[in-house]
Formats: sequence, structure tokens, C-alpha cells
Amino acid sequence: MKKHIALVPGDGIGVDIVSEAVKVLDRLAKKFGHEFTYTSYLAGGCAIDATGKPLPEETLKGCQESDSVLLGAVGGPAWDKLPSNLRPEKALLGLRGGMGLFCNLRPAILYKQLAGACPLKAEIVGEGLDIMVVRELTGGIYFGQRGRDENGAYDTMSYTVSEIERIVRKGFETAQKRKKRLCSVDKANILNSSQLWREIVGRLAPDYPDVVVNHLYVDNAAMQLVRNPRQFDVIVTENMFGDILSDEASQITGSIGMLPSASLREDGFGMYEPIHGSAPDLAGKNVANPIATILSVGMMMRYTFGLPKEADAIEEAVSKVLDASYRTADIYTEGMKLVGTKEMGDLIAQAL
Ligand code: IPM
Ligand code: MG
Repeated sequence: MKKHIALVPGDGIGVDIVSEAVKVLDRLAKKFGHEFTYTSYLAGGCAIDATGKPLPEETLKGCQESDSVLLGAVGGPAWDKLPSNLRPEKALLGLRGGMGLFCNLRPAILYKQLAGACPLKAEIVGEGLDIMVVRELTGGIYFGQRGRDENGAYDTMSYTVSEIERIVRKGFETAQKRKKRLCSVDKANILNSSQLWREIVGRLAPDYPDVVVNHLYVDNAAMQLVRNPRQFDVIVTENMFGDILSDEASQITGSIGMLPSASLREDGFGMYEPIHGSAPDLAGKNVANPIATILSVGMMMRYTFGLPKEADAIEEAVSKVLDASYRTADIYTEGMKLVGTKEMGDLIAQAL
């Protein structure tokens, strides 16, 4: 298969981890007889410095014309004082919105090798955790009307019926391929958009009779994630709730450095990125964990390129390296072998 991949390393450790993911892509191409080519684009703080804009037109166009996009992370203290529409984070929203990537899949899996890095008690975690957060990504408060004047500031959480329907359907379809349990998270005791969300989940449920559905308010869901995370299979929720709950879910799987994500359009086109940020204090020091980005490459194989064997191979390679006790600092526990970003990338590429 010949594929052209747009690389958007961004800022901070984004640069460190995307290079490791490319190592793995190259190794994968060799092993399975594919040809992957790449073009790198600027987005985020580095783009502001070079062009004055967080998301240059050329970047969005290049990504749109590629077969898939691999993104690192954006942001950093150097750009923190800028107004929200000029900040590096705006690049991410521009890419997600601009390419219509409404469906964000964030798998939170606790690898058995990392049980010791999970902050929850062993009896709470039991056999392990495997939760899929399906986050709406192009609507809600991130994209609603906003403003600021001398009296105050406001942001609006608004959703259309069709925006809710398409993501809720993705939630049901995802549950059908897994343990067939869907938890819809909202704040329907307060928010109009959540009341509509809950109505739509109820209306679509009969189309998926094999899926058991429940509803949780987001505050309760946050508590349940640490009280009894094993109750969850698939969580479907709106943009900001999904942002918050996926960080929480990541921590119970040992480290946010382990969580990949896919941001998908209806036709399967997607952008892939770790869910963590740019960690400016770690940038360039060869300490960041590249596994979330490498696993994101696995998701690219599975969801956009339709190459499940290649995806499995990446996941197995990661597992093998963890079996051999190699750990970056964020997942390090006593007795393990501490390695840097580059060594972890090399080890995973070799394991392939
Ligand atoms: C994420 C990040 C982004 C988000 C930020 C960097 C805009 O936290 O991908 O989870 O809020 O979506
Ligand atoms: Mg986030």
C-alpha cells in the first residue's frame, strides 16, 4: 500500500515523539511491504513564530490532501499570554473542525505490565481496564459562540440534533464491537444541550438492541471512574466532558503517556495523536514517552488504512518491550529498566 502521511509535530515533546513514531512507521512499511511517504507541516506555537498564525493555510491544505495525519502536541508557556483565537491550541481546533473530524476515539487500556504504575488499589482494577471514550470533537463549547468585553466573558455549549446523532451512533457502533455496554455522559440536570443529548440516546437505542445503555451525569462519571472503573466499556460524551474524562481515564491506566487517539470523519479519514500535551519542560531532553504516539500509528493502520494486522503488530511490539521491563520515566517503577524517548522508539521498532 502507498500512503502519504502529513506530519504535524507541533511544539515541545511533540517533536521528540513524532520522530519515534516515524521510525516505527518506516519499520512497519519494510516488514509489510508498504510505502509510506511524509511531508512535515507547522502548527501551534512554532507556526506562530514562523508565520504569525497558529494554523497556516498550507498546513490545513496539506493535511486535507494527505491520506492521514500524525500530530504530536501544541502549546507552551511562550504563547500563553496570547488571546484564545491566536493561541497554539487554536491550530488543533482548526484542524479538527476544518477536516470535519467529529469522532474522537480514546482507548484507555491498562497494560498488565503497568499494573504497578496504576494509582488505584489492585482490587479496584482487578483483571485490568479497557475503556473506550468516544468524544464528540467538532461541536459544543469548544466551537460555540464566545466573547469578552469589559463586563465579562462567555462561551456557549450548543449542539444540533444531527451533530449529536452522528456521534451517539458511533458510540453504539463502537459498543457493538466490544462488550456491548454504552454509558452516555451528560449534565442533563442542568444543561439544555445535555437534555437533548439524553433524548437522542434514548431515541436511537432501539436501533442497537444488543447494546445495554446507561446515563451518568458527568460529575458522577468522574467519581465512578476512580471508584469502580470496571463498570465502563464505552463512554460517549460531548467535547469538553470527553476532554476531561479522557485525562482522568488515562491516569488510571498508569500514565497519560500511554494513551493514543483517533479523530475520524465519516469516510474513515483521520488524524492521529497522543492525548497528552506538549510538556515543554521535558522537550528535547529525551525523556518523553513515545508510546502514545506509536500506538496512535497503530490506530491509523486500523481505522484509516484498514490494516488490522499492522495495527496488531504495533500493539504486540509495545507489549513485548514492556514485557522486557523497559520503561520511560513516566511509567517507571522499581526494578525496571529506565530508557529515554529514542531508546524506547528503537526498542519498539526492533520488536517489530
Ligand atoms: C486534548 C487537548 C486539547 C483539547 C487542547 C490542547 C486544545 O487537551 O486533545 O485533549 O482540549 O481538546
Ligand atoms: Mg485534553
